[in-house]
Amino acid sequence: MLSCIILISWLLLVWFYFLWSRRRYYIAAWQLRGPVGWPLIGMGLQMMNPATFLQYMDGLSRQFKAPFISWMGTDCFLYINDPSTVEQIFNSTHCTNKGDLYRFISSAIGDGLFTSSWPRWHKHRRLINPAFGRQILSNFLPIFNAEAEVLLQKLDLEGVQHGKRLEIYQILKKIVLEAACQTTMGRKMNFQHDGSVAIFEAYNGLTEVCVKRMLSPWLYPGLIYRRSRLYGQQKKVVGILFGFIEQLLEPIVSVVTSDASAEQQNPEMRAKSKAIFIEQVREHVERGQLSWQDVRDEANVTIAATFETTSTALYFTILCLAMHPYYQEKLHEELVRELPPTGDVSLEQLQRLDYTEMVINEAMRLFAPVPMVLRSAEQDLQLRRDDGDFLIPRGTQIGIDIYNMQRDERVWGPLARTYNPEAHFGKDAPLRHAFAFVPFTKGLRMCIGYRYAQILMKLLLARIFYSYRISTEARLDELLVKGNISLKLQEYPLCLVNRR
Ligand code: HEM
Repeated sequence: MLSCIILISWLLLVWFYFLWSRRRYYIAAWQLRGPVGWPLIGMGLQMMNPATFLQYMDGLSRQFKAPFISWMGTDCFLYINDPSTVEQIFNSTHCTNKGDLYRFISSAIGDGLFTSSWPRWHKHRRLINPAFGRQILSNFLPIFNAEAEVLLQKLDLEGVQHGKRLEIYQILKKIVLEAACQTTMGRKMNFQHDGSVAIFEAYNGLTEVCVKRMLSPWLYPGLIYRRSRLYGQQKKVVGILFGFIEQLLEPIVSVVTSDASAEQQNPEMRAKSKAIFIEQVREHVERGQLSWQDVRDEANVTIAATFETTSTALYFTILCLAMHPYYQEKLHEELVRELPPTGDVSLEQLQRLDYTEMVINEAMRLFAPVPMVLRSAEQDLQLRRDDGDFLIPRGTQIGIDIYNMQRDERVWGPLARTYNPEAHFGKDAPLRHAFAFVPFTKGLRMCIGYRYAQILMKLLLARIFYSYRISTEARLDELLVKGNISLKLQEYPLCLVNRR
């Protein structure tokens, strides 16, 4: 009996200490009231379905006045979806670390730029930044043009000559992954010809596994997770991806480690390929600033970040244009006016394609390729809201809901949920808050590859819509999105391709 009382008292004491140590979170949660959820799992049960997660968060943000605080597991979770708060977070030097939940991605595929924290992130970002400079990117144009040619042949053969309705997303993924492998690793993979399905499925599987774990607080403890089915799935897809990345890296690693002198004897060859990411980071390995393990992690993330997001953004742009022939025709007018009928597209020509940029931006507004990003408050933050200032305690997890902000009628007006490039990005469009449109985010942690993505997307779109007309029976309001690390659709509508 006595031991029972001691045990209960001890447990109560631990529980009170736990609550007391977290009192600052409770005060913040009281001021910025949101849904409370269940003890220990917080909003886990309600959030766990990626298919309804984004819609659910939109509903909550209207019910509670966002920004609001809720709970993910035992983590204090600040949800924001208004430009003014988004600006404060992206511009804060105390919010450059990613949310703790990203540890599930880094534990699966390694700690690359997308997930890493200070000081590792700062060091790697400084070393890798030059690999994405404007000059370097202009060297990629021949690769992008060559891949555009492959894409057109594919659309022509399968879409026009065979008259098939196409699932264009699959075709785009292959093209973008091929371009990513060449521009980052200098390797041509020929995905159009051999079976790349396993790799795509592995990338897809990886993001699904990580998001499922993020949305399931009971799987946070490693001990429980390693006994779950999800972990088995993770091991399988990670095995495939590591095999793929090592296959890409292998020739480079072996040259550096076994035959460095031969390489030095051939500086011409090396200078030629210097433009690509791997050649730049390889110099850091030789100087001892990065290890091969770091390079593998960064390569993994860079390829995933390039191909998942860019093919998603490109696909949604094509789909939106297929659903809106009026804008497609206006795009075609610009392309005919600015581009020669055949031959490679140059950087100067791309820079003149203002309408092309508008149709891409409008698609990324409506279908944010990365719907939500997570940050962590490293210090206490003072947050301004219309009705006063609020203290956000250190350690709070911050969810920035880009998807819902970019289609919110309070921010974008009555046409917010329609595809209308002119109303939102045209020269007569009303002036918006500078942080109302942030598909690549802003601030110190902004996407490193945004210029790369813009060039590749513009070029591929220009080449497609110069020569082809694309249509679909799908309707904008029928598309069902899935909240993943990059935005997905529950079903991908088929498109019809015709030559002009
Ligand atoms: C339409 C295409 C793309 C979109 C919408 C996009 C979006 C994003 C977003 C939202 C982030 C997170 C930023 C943050 O947390 O504040 C990010 C980070 C990142 N992106 Fe992109 N991205 C795209 C293409 C690319 C490409 C082409 C590359 C590489 C060539 C790339 C490489 C990265 C990397 C390495 C990071 C981590 C940066 C860091 O934390 O320092 N992305 N991207």
